[in-house]
Amino acid sequence: MDFYNGKQILITGGLGFIGSNLARRLVELGADVTLVDSLIPEYGGNLFNIAGIEHKVRINISDVRDEHSMRYLVQSQDYLFNLAGQTSHMDSMQDPNTDLEINCRAQLSILETCRRYNPKIKIVFASTRQVYGKPAYLPVDERHLLRPMDVNGINKMAGEWYHILYNNVYGIRACALRLTNTYGPRMRIKDARQTFLGVWIRSLVEGKPFEVWGGEQLRDFTYVDDAVEAFLLAAVREDANGQVYNLGGCEVISLRELAELSVKINGGGNFQVQDFPAERKRIDIGDYYADDRNIRKELGWEPQFNVGKGLARTLNYYCSHLEHYL
Ligand SMILES: NC(=O)c1ccc[n+]([C@@H]2O[C@H](COP(=O)([O-])OP(=O)(O)OC[C@H]3O[C@@H](n4cnc5c(N)ncnc54)[C@H](O)[C@@H]3O)[C@@H](O)[C@H]2O)c1
Repeated sequence: MDFYNGKQILITGGLGFIGSNLARRLVELGADVTLVDSLIPEYGGNLFNIAGIEHKVRINISDVRDEHSMRYLVQSQDYLFNLAGQTSHMDSMQDPNTDLEINCRAQLSILETCRRYNPKIKIVFASTRQVYGKPAYLPVDERHLLRPMDVNGINKMAGEWYHILYNNVYGIRACALRLTNTYGPRMRIKDARQTFLGVWIRSLVEGKPFEVWGGEQLRDFTYVDDAVEAFLLAAVREDANGQVYNLGGCEVISLRELAELSVKINGGGNFQVQDFPAERKRIDIGDYYADDRNIRKELGWEPQFNVGKGLARTLNYYCSHLEHYL
């Protein structure tokens, strides 16, 4: 990965969970990194996420919906890791227009800005398994029909396809990673907006019981360092241009098993299995796990962290830094 040494990199959503972990790795690799983030309090951005590298990156607190900021920021960048997003499925149902503005409209405007002011840039877009909706078969490969179950899934799908369209029609090199549940240090644990696993971790560290809804749903999980590696590979590889790749994990696990494992690794804790709340049940996708053979085969990506190892690191991080995430 010497490749990144001296490269100009822009990360949207760079103070968020995945963006900040990516930033840390890129700083290690010698890249010249700029982060843009709006720090909207309900989202996952947190200045503590870049503790220790704050003097090695440029930070621009602005909104990707602001075309003027983006016009200034994309110029002279070699790579854009495009991760800014509204991530809550429930919020997207309660306030669909904000989700539309950030996950769909702003994506088109970022691409237009690149086309006009920096057509040589390469973009990796953070998409989501949510675009598939309720799986028709498992594991879900990239050919699976796209039929999102919530507003967030529809807007992310549009955001993803704008990237592929700009690649195909205008030659703005872009590809997309369809992330599954991603977890690790620096995720939002204050509430369940980003992931249910966030509140589980918080409860475990605080010594409080947590709720598991359903429990039998199968899922796969990507540890954040593995996701970061996928972003780095996708940006470097020219054969990734115009492609969408699923990311999965090392294993498939039910939520009940995951809860049991979390308690074991934490060395204690309690949970209760409960029925889904009605408003959640309506947008639940049931079982999901990815067929991620394409990215493994074509880009040589291979996750290194099974859930046990990833959870241990995550719990350890929040034991030391809980106060910065409440
Ligand atoms: N974490 C997951 O499990 C997961 C799964 C699938 C897809 N993704 C995608 O990966 C990306 C990163 O997710 P994350 O988990 O790091 O979430 P996150 O909320 O921690 O990061 C997103 C960041 O984007 C910023 N942001 C939001 N709206 C913005 C705006 N209008 N302008 C500028 N910045 C804005 C937020 O402040 C936040 O820091 C998102 O696009 C998300 O849809 C994540």
